[in-house]
Amino acid sequence: MDGAVNDVLLAELAEQARQVVRCPLPLTTALGQLPATGWVDAARFDPQHPYGRRTLWHADGVEVMIAGWSPGRPCAPHDHGAALGAVRVLQGRAVHRQWHRLAGRLVPGRSEVYGTAEVLACPRGYVHQMCGSHGPSPLVTLHLYVGPTSPMAVYDRAHTRTQWIDAGGGAWVHASDDARVLAVERGWMPSSLAIERGPSGV
Ligand SMILES: [Fe+2]
Repeated sequence: MDGAVNDVLLAELAEQARQVVRCPLPLTTALGQLPATGWVDAARFDPQHPYGRRTLWHADGVEVMIAGWSPGRPCAPHDHGAALGAVRVLQGRAVHRQWHRLAGRLVPGRSEVYGTAEVLACPRGYVHQMCGSHGPSPLVTLHLYVGPTSPMAVYDRAHTRTQWIDAGGGAWVHASDDARVLAVERGWMPSSLAIERGPSGV
């Protein structure tokens, strides 16, 4: 695919994702059934961040994104706004950890390793963190979201605060003056709170 993407496959994937709101076809199935070859070359790597983010498709409430990961550099715990999500490992190994907001604390959940071709489901409100492991091939992941991903909550553990990030921002703590930072609040706030308040209250 050499950095280009297969528009027919993307359109088919987006259509399957849209069906999720009408029938419970899991996003994980749609991603899992996708032909495996030809995607990795579309990934972009960004050594300044945990991963390089490239949106392959964004229309009608569906986003398909490919991420090329910097080995050993975890993203921040985050949710995905009001979207459902799924992630497929295209290459390499992902160290994945779930997090829980409990009684005002952010508590680490179980950690698992996902290998090539494995698919991870991200229900609404799910908080997680991923990291590309060291190895012969860097981690590349394909992400499928249906529903609004903005604002998404990114948890800044060093400062015990939540950054609400606009669409297209990555799952890492952004500089305060970054245009994608919609709001910052002390503690661990869910995206659903920002969505309830609406844009003026964010
Ligand atoms: Fe995520």
